[in-house]
Amino acid sequence: MILITGAGGKTGRTLVKTLSKVESVCAFVHREEHVSMMKSLGADKVIVGDIHNESVIRSAMQGARSVYHICPNMNPDETVIGKLVIGEACKTGVEHFVYHSVLHPQTEKMKHHWQKLRVEEMLFESGLPFTILQPAPYMQNLLASWGSITEDGVLRVPYSVNSKFSFVDLEDLAETAKIVLTEPNHLNAIYELAGTLPISHVDVAKILSRILNSPVRAEKEEIENWRLRAERSERFLRAQSKRAPEMSERFLRAQSKRAPEMSEHFLRAQSKRAPEMSEHFLRAQSKRAPEMGGYTIENLIKMFEYYDQWGLMGNPNVSRWLLKREPTSFEIFIGRIVQERDATH
Ligand SMILES: NC(=O)c1ccc[n+]([C@@H]2O[C@H](COP(=O)([O-])OP(=O)(O)OC[C@H]3O[C@@H](n4cnc5c(N)ncnc54)[C@H](OP(=O)(O)O)[C@@H]3O)[C@@H](O)[C@H]2O)c1
Repeated sequence: MILITGAGGKTGRTLVKTLSKVESVCAFVHREEHVSMMKSLGADKVIVGDIHNESVIRSAMQGARSVYHICPNMNPDETVIGKLVIGEACKTGVEHFVYHSVLHPQTEKMKHHWQKLRVEEMLFESGLPFTILQPAPYMQNLLASWGSITEDGVLRVPYSVNSKFSFVDLEDLAETAKIVLTEPNHLNAIYELAGTLPISHVDVAKILSRILNSPVRAEKEEIENWRLRAERSERFLRAQSKRAPEMSERFLRAQSKRAPEMSEHFLRAQSKRAPEMSEHFLRAQSKRAPEMGGYTIENLIKMFEYYDQWGLMGNPNVSRWLLKREPTSFEIFIGRIVQERDATH
């Protein structure tokens, strides 16, 4: 059995779907409402709990041959969580520990990258048989802005549209995870997983224009503007949670984590449904609502500043070698998304 932590997120869901086709999967999720989704994706066992809780981690490890550890995104406790999960894997005698790291964890300026490097170091010193996967930014991140891409023809990012990135398709990543978990000779390996050569958001916008057959332009949003939008969205959601108990706290928390893109999308949808929720109303709400800081917002801003200057570039050679085929290109990825969306409408 393979235990997948952080299974309810976008990475975890794709892995559960792919890995459960070849081996029994135990999915570790945060919330009860994720249980049925995990079962429908193919998980045989689902454990619900807080990943800071040692005894829940221990019970999740029971019967697990391998662990695929995904830390919740931008979690300030990534090293604490890593220590707990690695520690319990050692005690249970797990045969193979795969750590979901990130491309260039060596980057100290981005806290979440640096924390992942420290977890990698713990893994070296744990004595566990390990494989470390270092994925590039996901192509799927683009989906958070799908509304503004298709409705307004704008691909907006809070950093230079000329910075270059290598991207990876989550489906390729899941395929790679399957290979390292089920085929021999991947122990003690660290793999950088990029699917594309470095491309800019101007290039991505050109690909989008071609495949959507409609013009899309890349546009930089100033970080201060992004911050205001993120804070306003979070304040708005908080205020809503006070005013509307039926909008559960969990739903709002999930929304605010995906801020600002998701919140904006949500607000947009709301404003279409309820014209009285005007910009003026939102501004009034945000004045009444309590101040909001947020580790995630600050951390994302550090990441945007880094991206603005350096981008995040990798090389698809390792993915090509592991997959024994060409990794998915951005063109193919967008074509697939369009087809999927057409099929559901
Ligand atoms: N996005 C990228 O391009 C990219 C690229 C490379 C690497 N990564 C890394 O991939 C990892 C996963 O990213 P993701 O976007 O898939 O994450 P995510 O969507 O944030 O999913 C993480 C899951 O963990 C759960 N969780 C949060 N706090 C928890 C807790 N205390 N106990 C148990 N579960 C908890 C979340 O549940 P709730 O919804 O209840 O909080 C969510 O279901 C991150 O470490 C990220 O750095 C991402």
